[in-house]
Amino acid sequence: MGAGVIARLTQAGHTVLVSGHNAEKAAATAEEASAGQQGSAKAVDENVALEAGIVVLALWYPATVDFATENADKLAGKIVIDIAIPLDSTYTRLTTPPDTSAAEELSKAIPQSFVVKAMNTIPAGTLKVGEIGGIDVDAFVASDSQEATDTVIELLNGSGLRALDAGKLDNARLLERLTAFGIELGQRHGVGFDFGWKFLPAGDLFTEGD
Ligand SMILES: NC(=O)c1ccc[n+]([C@@H]2O[C@H](COP(=O)([O-])OP(=O)(O)OC[C@H]3O[C@@H](n4cnc5c(N)ncnc54)[C@H](OP(=O)(O)O)[C@@H]3O)[C@@H](O)[C@H]2O)c1
Repeated sequence: MGAGVIARLTQAGHTVLVSGHNAEKAAATAEEASAGQQGSAKAVDENVALEAGIVVLALWYPATVDFATENADKLAGKIVIDIAIPLDSTYTRLTTPPDTSAAEELSKAIPQSFVVKAMNTIPAGTLKVGEIGGIDVDAFVASDSQEATDTVIELLNGSGLRALDAGKLDNARLLERLTAFGIELGQRHGVGFDFGWKFLPAGDLFTEGD
């Protein structure tokens, strides 16, 4: 997923600082995923990456919560994008109870940050390519801060994905379940793990100024 996030954000022209506990792997991923894109990516120390204005945690839940708790001071006041799906061992069900989500648990751990759920409904293979058969897939963006939601939608502008305001952070319960449901459908219909979700309304989407 880290590679996919780098690919999409550098397609949008951004500079991405990449950090992982394997520096060599982080450097190779940064170089490979950003090749030929408008923006750039480079591997940096974790402390340098945490200086970025927006931080994407490409970690599994609950490692997201552990990492964020350890770095709560550095993440304070910032947008923290959560892409996690708390899958159980079947990959089609979740470990979190229905009255919460990985994103809400993350938000509880770092209340001084603006946690935004985004891109979690896009499987890694699809995220790396950024589309399916020429169709841009949706990146649902949910948070309790409208400003943070708008900033992430703007961040994804030009990424190849269609970013869509998906309401409050508790909609992460649905968004996390949606990925597990997609995996189940993929298995049930023998179409593998690469899929995308798209909201297809009968009318035009409401946009600011309409
Ligand atoms: N795979 C998908 O299709 C998909 C789709 C949607 C959402 N997601 C979500 O995206 C997240 C990442 O999934 P993934 O498939 O990309 O997993 P992954 O391939 O296992 O990548 C996770 C990365 O996190 C690194 N890591 C683990 N703990 C770390 C720590 N404490 N500090 C720094 N780096 C750490 C790992 O490094 P090492 O390998 O060196 O341990 C690894 O590079 C998960 O929350 C998953 O639920 C995945």
